Amino acid sequence: MQITERLQALAGSPTTAVKQVADQLKRDGIKVYDFGVGEPDFGTPENIKDAAVGAMEQNKTKYTTARGIVELREAIAQRYNNKYGTAFGPEHVVVSGGAKQSLYNLMMTLVNPGDEVIIPSPYWVSYPALVQLAQGTSVFVETKAENDFKVTASEIEAAITPRTKVINLNSPNNPTGAVIEIEELKQITEMAVEKDIALIYDECYECFVFGKEHGNPIQWNQEKVVSVGSASKTYAMTGWRIGWMIGLKEVAAASDRFQSQAASNPNSIAQWAAVEALLGEQDAVDEMHAAYAKRRTMVLDLLNQVDGLTCPVPEGAFYVFPDVSNFFNEELCDSIAIAKYLLEEAHVAVVPGSGFGAEGYVRISYAASEQELTEGLTRMGEALKALK
Ligand SMILES: Cc1ncc(COP(=O)(O)O)c(C=O)c1O
Repeated sequence: MQITERLQALAGSPTTAVKQVADQLKRDGIKVYDFGVGEPDFGTPENIKDAAVGAMEQNKTKYTTARGIVELREAIAQRYNNKYGTAFGPEHVVVSGGAKQSLYNLMMTLVNPGDEVIIPSPYWVSYPALVQLAQGTSVFVETKAENDFKVTASEIEAAITPRTKVINLNSPNNPTGAVIEIEELKQITEMAVEKDIALIYDECYECFVFGKEHGNPIQWNQEKVVSVGSASKTYAMTGWRIGWMIGLKEVAAASDRFQSQAASNPNSIAQWAAVEALLGEQDAVDEMHAAYAKRRTMVLDLLNQVDGLTCPVPEGAFYVFPDVSNFFNEELCDSIAIAKYLLEEAHVAVVPGSGFGAEGYVRISYAASEQELTEGLTRMGEALKALK
């Protein structure tokens, strides 16, 4: 059988090489400090699990409408209306099997072959692949470490061409934790409106912002902005696969059409659980926020003790993205080599920056216990010092 050119050209996960070594170490019974995974270390809150059990007991286990049950779409619309003073209803929402599917739907909805999609880098690994699947072209805008990787309106403006169809923003950012400044966000929104460009805003980490205001361009414009959200990180529900898009009715309808043919509805039980997640008790979110905030300070302190390591201060998500290029030598000359070295020498798993479009960096997730972080990052620091 012949694999299509489309899929032959599609890269797999950039982290495979490191993951293979990590898996082998684990199989050999070696303790690995795994800071590679991009998901909460907390369990899904009990009230959400109970809602899922209730849904099963009531046989809410059948197909739903492709774009999701109206109760969930109403809860999502209400969330935005409460936060941003919008007037959305369920007709503006499509629920999907995670934000990743929402983003894929949107690329297929908004990008024609040859259209350009502006993506600030470092970027979440899947954006360029999703653009590629829609036969669009990714145009990367490099953000600066000295600006804590926060993209500015003028950087975006410089990348706009007559072919620009979409600006794809992510705040808080994976992998850098950068939170875009409100003033810049406002200016980018105005630019998108003026130049007739769609603005996709991925705010999967919206609830994990530290000591700073998180904005959403949808509060200023609902014609050009589509927002993408997820239950995965906010409610420690990565495996349940619930994400959504909210925006213009016509865009939602087209996304729904695509999803209905390609995938049908997201899991019915997970949808009922997500209704409880959005409308029920929010204490668990506050507790996770407090834990991440504490760990962020701890992790930055530990990393700052390592001579030669520089780490921009992340304002959101649960990642830090230090520059490890000072430790490069003839053999270890890129982020993949450093990540492999850290794994073999210190049994610490991190993700090489190259997959995020940022050679010279590694991503460390602090969605791990304080004890793991202290031990693992101390080991990592010692292994790096040995290279000096
Ligand atoms: C920036 C960003 N967007 C989207 C996603 C996808 O999340 P979901 O689990 O909802 O598909 C992730 C997951 O890591 C992410 O980091």
